Amino acid sequence: MLTCIDGVLSKDDVAEFRRIMDASEWEDGRSTAGAQSAMVKRNEQLPPDSEVARKLGHRIISALTASPRFLAAAIPLQIFPPLFNRYAADSGHHFGLHVDNAIRGDRLTGLRIRTDLSVTLFLSEPEDYDGGELVIEDTYGSHEVKLPAGDCVLYPSTSLHLVTPVTRGSRVASFFWLQSMIRDDQARSMIFDLDAAIQALVARLGRDDPETVKLTGIYHNLIRTWAEV
Ligand code: NI
Repeated sequence: MLTCIDGVLSKDDVAEFRRIMDASEWEDGRSTAGAQSAMVKRNEQLPPDSEVARKLGHRIISALTASPRFLAAAIPLQIFPPLFNRYAADSGHHFGLHVDNAIRGDRLTGLRIRTDLSVTLFLSEPEDYDGGELVIEDTYGSHEVKLPAGDCVLYPSTSLHLVTPVTRGSRVASFFWLQSMIRDDQARSMIFDLDAAIQALVARLGRDDPETVKLTGIYHNLIRTWAEV
């Protein structure tokens, strides 16, 4: 399942992020890549352990965990500290087809997670650059994603994906991973759909409608069956 979430950061937040990031030191993006992805990765990153990356990352996690849609879609157990990258047209930046590492460890906190979902939060407006589409392959084919600044996309970390070459301007984004309480993507998708259906029924029939109460019970019992906490 591929889920987009609008307005995780406001336009004012994005502008502030960009001011801070533009004044920071960047490094070669291959510093955090695995062996295969290092061969196809050409971009820049904020140093992952830097104070700037940590502070901005905290703000992203706070904003995301206040989003009911994010919580319903991801059912997060642990969120990896967000990283930040930049693809510049004048450097021919791109990121070829790869799959993200299955396990991610954070040097500073000792946190180690299984990557169930990958997240890209866009920090450049689509009209400010050409190319730079995130292309995600799944069983239904290839999906091109390019969202307004402040929006994010969640996709299964099992998917092969790439970022097409940026041919004008620059594409700035945050990217990170999370371990979900529901490991299986299909199970997580069903829970997300069930939640949405229950919310619609509650809006129409009220919270104390007997069938809605039963479905709410099924929702929680499915989570009880599948969740790892
Ligand atoms: Ni990736």
